[in-house]
Amino acid sequence: MGGSEGENCRSVFSTTSDCRKMAAQTKKQTRISPFDASSATEPTGGHSLRIPDEEVHFSGQLDPGQVELIKRLYHFYKSIIQNINAGLLALDFHGQIIFANRRAGSLLGIAPRELLQRKFQDFLTNKERNSQLAGWLRVPGKRIDNIEVHLRRADGKDIIAGLSISPLEDTRNHFSGVVLLIHDLTETYRLRHQVERMERLALLGELAAGIAHEIRNPMAGIKASAQILLESLPEDDYRRQLLTRIIREVDKSNGLLTEFFTFARPTRPKANFHNIELIIDSVYLLLAPRLRNRKIQFVEEFEEDLPQVYVDEHQIEQVILNLFLNAMDAMVEGGKLTVRTRKRELSLVEQKQAGVKLSGEKLGYVLVEVQDTGPGIPAHLIDKIFNPFFTTKPEGVGLGLSICTRLVEENRGKLDVVSKPGEGTTFIVALPTFSRAIPRGKP
Ligand SMILES: Nc1ncnc2c1ncn2[C@@H]1O[C@H](COP(=O)(O)OP(=O)(O)OP(=O)(O)O)[C@@H](O)[C@H]1O
Ligand SMILES: [Mg+2]
Repeated sequence: MGGSEGENCRSVFSTTSDCRKMAAQTKKQTRISPFDASSATEPTGGHSLRIPDEEVHFSGQLDPGQVELIKRLYHFYKSIIQNINAGLLALDFHGQIIFANRRAGSLLGIAPRELLQRKFQDFLTNKERNSQLAGWLRVPGKRIDNIEVHLRRADGKDIIAGLSISPLEDTRNHFSGVVLLIHDLTETYRLRHQVERMERLALLGELAAGIAHEIRNPMAGIKASAQILLESLPEDDYRRQLLTRIIREVDKSNGLLTEFFTFARPTRPKANFHNIELIIDSVYLLLAPRLRNRKIQFVEEFEEDLPQVYVDEHQIEQVILNLFLNAMDAMVEGGKLTVRTRKRELSLVEQKQAGVKLSGEKLGYVLVEVQDTGPGIPAHLIDKIFNPFFTTKPEGVGLGLSICTRLVEENRGKLDVVSKPGEGTTFIVALPTFSRAIPRGKP
C-alpha cells in the first residue's frame, strides 16, 4: 500500500468515526498503513460496524481475522469514495485540503496528492472569493446543497460546478472542518445553451416558413397576371421580353421557396424496398442530355447481386440528383462522372457504434459513390460544404448538400465526402438494406 493510499485511508476513516477509531487501534501513526497485524495490539473499547452482510463486534485485542475485516472495510469505503462520479474534498478549519478523491483531482486539474498542499480558496475565481461562499466554509455546522459556483482549475480554466457543503466532525462530534461534494456542470450548461439556441432557431424557422408561405400566394398572382399580359401582346412587342423576365424571376423565387420548404419541413420518408440501380438510372435519364452537352462521360459500376435498399425512392432520387448536379457544376470543362455501388455489412462492433441491433435481419448497407473529376474541395472548405447556405457558386443557394444530409439521415443512412484537390470529389451515400432497427437498450 503506497503513501498516497495511506493518506487517502486516513481521510477515508475521518469521515466515519467508527472506522477512525478502529484505524487508530490498529496503528500508532495514522499516516502509515493501518493494516499491519503486528500493530493491532491495543485493546479496543468495543464497536459495532455494519458492512454489507456482515455485523462485526470488536472487543479486546484485534486478531488477524479482525484485521482482515478492517482491510476489507478499508477497501470497501475507499472503493466507494474513489469511484463516485463526484469530487470529494475535506477541508480543515483553515480551508486546507486534507482529503481529495480522484475525481476531485481530475475536476480541478491536479493530482489528488498535490491537492493536499493547497487550500480550497486557491481554486475559487476572484468573484467567488468575495462571495458568501468563502464565509460559509468557516461556519460550524453549515449545510448547503448544490449551489452553483465558478471554480478555477490548476490549468487556469474556469468550470461551473455544483457544490454541496456538509460539516466534518471529529471523534467527539466536534466541528473540525467541512466536506465538499463537487459536480462538474460545465457540460450540462453547454447542453442547456445549445438546447435554448436550437429552440430559438426552430422558432425562427417556423416564422420564416410562415412568411415564405405567405409570399407564395402574391407571387402566383404576379405570375398569372404577367402571363395574361404576355398573351395579350403581339409577337413583336418589345415588352414581351420584360414580361418573360418577370415570369422567369417568379419561377426562380418559387424554386428557392420549394428548396427552403424541403429544408425546413422535410416530409417523413415513405420507405419501401427498392433497387438502387433503378433509382440511379432514373436520375441519369433526366440528366443525360445535359451531360452530353457538357462533354461529361457517364460511367456506372454496379456490384452484382446488390440487396435492395429500404428507403423513400423519391427522397433518394432527390439526393442522387443533387450530387449529380454538383458534380456537373464542378466539371465545367467536361470530365467523367462515375457512380459505383457496393454492399457493406456492419460488423458487431460497428452495429454497437451505430447504436442499433437487429431482430432476424442482417445489418447491411449499400454504398453509392458519386465520383467526379472536377477540381476537388480545398481542405479548409470541406467541413463547411454541408452547412446550409454555404456556396461558392455565383448562382448557388447552398442548400443542396444540407438537404441531402437531412434526407439521407431521415432514411437512416449516412452521407460522407472524400476529396482530393486537383483530382476530384467522391460523395458516398450509405443506405440501409434492412427495414427496421431497434435502438440498443430498447426492447
Ligand atoms: N462535387 C463537388 N466538387 C467540388 N465542390 C463541390 C462539389 N459538391 C459540392 N461542392 C461545394 O460545396 C458547396 C455547397 O454545395 P451545395 O450543393 O450545398 O450548394 P450549391 O451547389 O452551391 O447550391 P445549391 O443550393 O444550388 O445546390 C458548393 O458551392 C461547392 O463549393
Ligand atoms: Mg448543389
